[in-house]
Amino acid sequence: MLAGLAAPIPAVPARWLYDHRGSELFDEITRLDSYYPTATETKLLAEIAPELCNHIPSGLAVIEFGSGSSTKTPLLLDAIKPAAYVPVDISGDYLESSAAEIRARYPQLPVHPVAADFGKPFDLPREVASLPRLGFFPGSTIGNFVPRSATDLLRHFRILLGTGSLLLIGMDRIKPVERLLAAYDEPEGVTAQFNLNLIQRINRELDGTIPGDSFRHEARWNDILSRIEMHLVATRDVEFSVAGKPFSFAAGSSIHTENSHKYEQRGARLLLLAGGWTPIAEWTDPDGDFSIILAQSQPDRFAP
Ligand code: AVI
Repeated sequence: MLAGLAAPIPAVPARWLYDHRGSELFDEITRLDSYYPTATETKLLAEIAPELCNHIPSGLAVIEFGSGSSTKTPLLLDAIKPAAYVPVDISGDYLESSAAEIRARYPQLPVHPVAADFGKPFDLPREVASLPRLGFFPGSTIGNFVPRSATDLLRHFRILLGTGSLLLIGMDRIKPVERLLAAYDEPEGVTAQFNLNLIQRINRELDGTIPGDSFRHEARWNDILSRIEMHLVATRDVEFSVAGKPFSFAAGSSIHTENSHKYEQRGARLLLLAGGWTPIAEWTDPDGDFSIILAQSQPDRFAP
């Protein structure tokens, strides 16, 4: 965090946005009309559900990465006949409550929550060791990783899930800039609060002295890198300290806080292929806003 703030282009890892308050604000964002990804993906998943069992065999362990409140999970669990459900989330709060909800709804389904950062190595519960696996990674969370890290993450999923496993992944599509910007900087100001919450977190957890009004939220479309960027832009020249280290920001300079990459169809496929996953089916809503892709892990010696 400190190194990021002091870098020539100041940037902070996006995971810092998700403390308890940040996670609450993100949940609120997903309910906004302007934030189309959640509603579009949920509707699409509900629509394709009857078809999923044609591609996904029964008896799999479903491993959901970053399960959060597991709101889309029942759509998948109802559509296939899984043998176990493994929600993986760094936030213990969410994990236990969402696991309890899934257990109540599917009393016959073994649920084995794992409290872990899905981007770091972790072990799957031994109860699912002998089961074939389906990774579930909805929400276009893959977009929050720069392509190099996204590739590393997909490779890590492939090794974790094993040969022959499947991955069902949601990816947001490129669309007119006005719609993208409206999704990340809406009149309700929830995304602004989500971004600005980082300042409060730094002040609280890292003994920071950043004046509350010295930064404002900004969403930018970076066309070269095909991503929405969130920035905290200094509203004036400001000096502060974090963990005893001095910082100064000139008016208009910014701290880059999050990337949200958007993919067109071929780019999405290439990313998956680079990560060791071969797309085998894909679905997109009629407006072409969001895609759900089913991919299969490539065998070790994949040729040509
Ligand atoms: C979690 N992630 C997929 C969201 C996104 O769209 O990149 C996070 C978010 N940031 C601002 N609004 C939503």
